[in-house]
Amino acid sequence: MPLDRIRPALMHGLDSAIDKFTAKNPQSAAALERARAVLPGGNTRSSLWSAPFPLCIASGEGCRIRDVDGNTYVDFLGEFTAGIFGHSSPILARALADAHARGINLSSHTPYEVELAERLVARFPSMDRVRFANSGTEATIMAITAARLTTGRERIIAFEGGYHGGVATFIPGADRVNAPYQFDVLPFDDLTAVQAAFAHDPQIAAVLVEPMQGAGGCRVASTAFLAGLRSLCDSHGAVLIFDEVQTARMAEGGMQARLGITPDMTTVGKFFGGGLAFGAFGGRASIMDRFDPARPDALAHAGTFNNNSLTMATGVAAIDHYLTPAALEALFERGETFRGRLNAAFGASGLPFEATGLGSIMNIHARLETADSSAALRRLLQFGMMAKGQYFAARGLIALSLAIGDAEIEGFFTALTEVLADIAGIMAEDAA
Ligand SMILES: Cc1ncc(COP(=O)(O)O)c(C=O)c1O
Repeated sequence: MPLDRIRPALMHGLDSAIDKFTAKNPQSAAALERARAVLPGGNTRSSLWSAPFPLCIASGEGCRIRDVDGNTYVDFLGEFTAGIFGHSSPILARALADAHARGINLSSHTPYEVELAERLVARFPSMDRVRFANSGTEATIMAITAARLTTGRERIIAFEGGYHGGVATFIPGADRVNAPYQFDVLPFDDLTAVQAAFAHDPQIAAVLVEPMQGAGGCRVASTAFLAGLRSLCDSHGAVLIFDEVQTARMAEGGMQARLGITPDMTTVGKFFGGGLAFGAFGGRASIMDRFDPARPDALAHAGTFNNNSLTMATGVAAIDHYLTPAALEALFERGETFRGRLNAAFGASGLPFEATGLGSIMNIHARLETADSSAALRRLLQFGMMAKGQYFAARGLIALSLAIGDAEIEGFFTALTEVLADIAGIMAEDAA
């Protein structure tokens, strides 16, 4: 049954939130119209799309962003987890400018890449060696490739709801452009399904898993599941790959250190480039050393910008100044408290919202009878919060940055209480 017949007040509330959003953001709408002529649908990064149009953000400073209409927001999205430092850090700007003053990409090895590599290898228990790429997507593809070519096997186990980049996504509807690997997509956090897959065909090259599915809605894998994957891979000679592109922020050594489970390979990305395009894959020496170009059986991994000095230098500054063990631990705790407060506010409102996640990364879900009504309710909350200057993803993702202070957090919860009260009024009309 159409949503406007079963929940007319919810639909009307959403329509009027969209009308207000549209009236407040004429320049963002115009920016999209202009872009449509040269970018398909005005878009060059699919995950940013949301109806009726995404905001066009002109600038950011600290934990605040400003759109082209001059509206400012507290940024609770933090560049989908990559912007952990907040915006316009003078420390990162200095590192970038210093590297730039010494020339751009220098047509050979440079002193920069070893600095970043040493720091990553020291952090992640699974990394004896690391190689750099330009995105998390590329890092995933290279990790899969390394697993296939070192095991001589083809099949890769991945999980429903997993996201490892634009061409390795297992979120329904987004998977049409996946790279043509032999993926076996199994239910997430279901060890029995993985046991059955190995029993059916032990010739599996790799198991690719996020310790917490980020884009898939911040679903946290159970420790038993991840430990079970570890032992299945051990027994069958498969490569266990942890995609820690998002979860690397959960501790100095990422989720693998927090859990005490060491994969064979790890991919990271996002913030380790200090705000510049970045990805890296690393792992056991016995796998990674196949990339030693002096070996007769070397695997090639070329890339003009793999060692680009701007990213390498800014990444080092990011690690040294921001990504300290103490800062990451504090951010983790702050996120746990934040998610707890969210769920307490949802519980007090009596509305069917829930926040899932881990540490400073979380996702708000709305749970009504259908996917459409759930999405409508979630967007109503997000539009309501945006109208009060609180910015997070249309899909409900929140990623706290180090730049967000206590005052901003209090501001968020004050706004949330008001928005939830408004929504409760709307939902009461439908219940009447
Ligand atoms: C877990 C995970 N893996 C891989 C990627 C892909 O990284 P990138 O967008 O840098 O290609 C992402 C990006 O959101 C991610 O969240």
